[in-house]
Amino acid sequence: MHLFIVTGSSRGLGAALTQQLAQAGHTVLGIARRAQPALQADQWALDLADPLPAAQRLQGWLQAHAGCESATLINNAALLSQPGPLAATELEELSAALRVGLEAPVMLSRAFLAATAGVPTRRILNISSGLGRRPMAGSVAYCAIKAGLDHMSRALALEEPGVAIESLAPGVIDTDMQGQLRGADPARFTEQARFQGLKDAGQLQTAEATAAAIVRHLLQPDFGKTVVSDIRDA
Ligand SMILES: NC(=O)c1ccc[n+]([C@@H]2O[C@H](COP(=O)([O-])OP(=O)(O)OC[C@H]3O[C@@H](n4cnc5c(N)ncnc54)[C@H](OP(=O)(O)O)[C@@H]3O)[C@@H](O)[C@H]2O)c1
Repeated sequence: MHLFIVTGSSRGLGAALTQQLAQAGHTVLGIARRAQPALQADQWALDLADPLPAAQRLQGWLQAHAGCESATLINNAALLSQPGPLAATELEELSAALRVGLEAPVMLSRAFLAATAGVPTRRILNISSGLGRRPMAGSVAYCAIKAGLDHMSRALALEEPGVAIESLAPGVIDTDMQGQLRGADPARFTEQARFQGLKDAGQLQTAEATAAAIVRHLLQPDFGKTVVSDIRDA
């Protein structure tokens, strides 16, 4: 049995990853606030802004599947706070974005590593962003989360040489998150026009095409050789 855990499974890239992995016959657990009835996967409706109970539950679930051939954690869920200056961002929104985007991946990775020690093949895929590597005004928390995921992955790869770990930028994808960037107030978010331009120029990938490229890359033997990577170079 090959196990995959996908966070942010209800929409966008996470839904496409969950569906494609399940269709390939793998055992997939999806985690998001809402379940997606169309997905052929086990789903937990959990708020990852409260990651401790999610990590505890995941650890127990993985321990019950300790005999699997491979286990893969995909930290995909992320939450954008309203695009705009940090000083004008609601504190509650900021806190949720930081907890979903960075605290949860660290906690879930900890649970995953502790519960799968005897599993022959283990992988952690963190879905990062170009914005973890290139700063953008109006998205300070998001930039920090993604840079944090990249550096967490580098440190974890040093600790866990037997686990394939990669922090992967997925390119620009036509999902709700892009809609949120295009829909932002240009007076607060100076990059709004650039995101609108990407959509108008047809430069967004579909979630399905991006997921297919990621699944292909994930299942290659060299997955994890480049810890901080970009699907467009894979
Ligand atoms: N779209 C892009 O162009 C782009 C570019 C670079 C990187 N990325 C990265 O790719 C990943 C997927 O992005 P996407 O574009 O598919 O985003 P999306 O369409 O906004 O979907 C986000 C997913 O995260 C889940 N999520 C949000 N808040 C959550 C919470 N509190 N608890 C549990 N789950 C939560 C959502 O489910 P619920 O609402 O049901 O909870 C949803 O399934 C993210 O890490 C994003 O940063 C995207």
